[in-house]
Amino acid sequence: MKLLTLAAAAAFALLSSQAYAGPAEDIVAKEKCSKCHTATTTKKGPSWASVAEKAKGKADAAEKMFVYLKTGGKMSDGDDHKKVEASDADIKAIVALVLAAK
Ligand code: HEC
Repeated sequence: MKLLTLAAAAAFALLSSQAYAGPAEDIVAKEKCSKCHTATTTKKGPSWASVAEKAKGKADAAEKMFVYLKTGGKMSDGDDHKKVEASDADIKAIVALVLAAK
């Protein structure tokens, strides 16, 4: 019985952590960033963990990423990256989310 209770508690914790969504998570879901990015696997775009790794120790990384997402920066293949239609505060929250990925 004890094991079952533990398993149920673990399952609940997992579910509730996935169900939690702040504004940044909501926008990422709405804008379908996950078509090309996930936290840890490389799809069409780099994983956010690898983006965060590259940004480590660069003082201007967060600001550059903010501008990149707000204005739809150029990607290395010359195409424009998707522009994020959100308030500055929300875009900052997305940057924080990306930089926190590991
Ligand atoms: C159509 C595919 C696609 C979608 C949708 C997409 N991205 Fe990207 N993203 C890319 C690719 C490809 C790159 C790599 C850019 C390059 O080649 O320089 C990238 C790069 C990035 C980077 C790293 C920029 C850097 O400084 O290296 C961030 C952050 C990012 N995307 C966030 C997002 C967010 C947030 C969304 C949703 C609003 C999103 N992306 C939607 C394809 C996509």
